[in-house]
Amino acid sequence: MKEHLTVVKHPLIQHKLTLMREKDTSTAVFRQLLREISQLLAYEVTYELDMTTRRIETPLQEMDAPVLAGRKLALISILRAGNGLLDGMLELIPSARVGFVGLYRDEKTLKPVQYYFKVPDYLDERMVIVVDPMLATGNSSAAAVDLLKQSGAKNIRFLCLLAAPEGVARMKEAHPDVPIVTAALDERLNDKGYILPGLGDAGDRMYGTK
Ligand code: URA
Repeated sequence: MKEHLTVVKHPLIQHKLTLMREKDTSTAVFRQLLREISQLLAYEVTYELDMTTRRIETPLQEMDAPVLAGRKLALISILRAGNGLLDGMLELIPSARVGFVGLYRDEKTLKPVQYYFKVPDYLDERMVIVVDPMLATGNSSAAAVDLLKQSGAKNIRFLCLLAAPEGVARMKEAHPDVPIVTAALDERLNDKGYILPGLGDAGDRMYGTK
């Protein structure tokens, strides 16, 4: 991907995103919409998967038909909201390998601290797609990508639903080699680190917690 930031403006994505933003949208509908949008975004973010051909026989003749090349791609969910994007993507790419990164913010240092990290092997040979619905400050996203690079990942993409300019800038500074794909670039962060206009807390909205 040449662009550092790709905003996917497909009408179906934009319409579903508007429904997700609305404060009265129920947990069940929010989850279903996220699942649908994640499949549409998966289409965009996997556009550059390597291809090869395989000799096959159709009922009429032989042909060299296109198939995906190399190792299965790795989807890495940043807990816990990343799992909403992950579920939909797995429906489209059922053979993907899956990893999880758990980070919390240390209240004293305000830095992200790792509490869980489990990723597939051979990350250096896979396309690695990091999923987190909200790219807000970008601190946890940048830290997650740091950890993945330490595990060997080289070909990384970051997929989110909403991005704040602050988060995009932070990622560009820390990881200019990691393209970001999002459904919308919102206005800014508020003083609590929420994206405006945003959709609130993605994890709470998808799991019905508060
Ligand atoms: N995380 C969320 O869930 N929402 C935001 O607006 C920012 C970070």
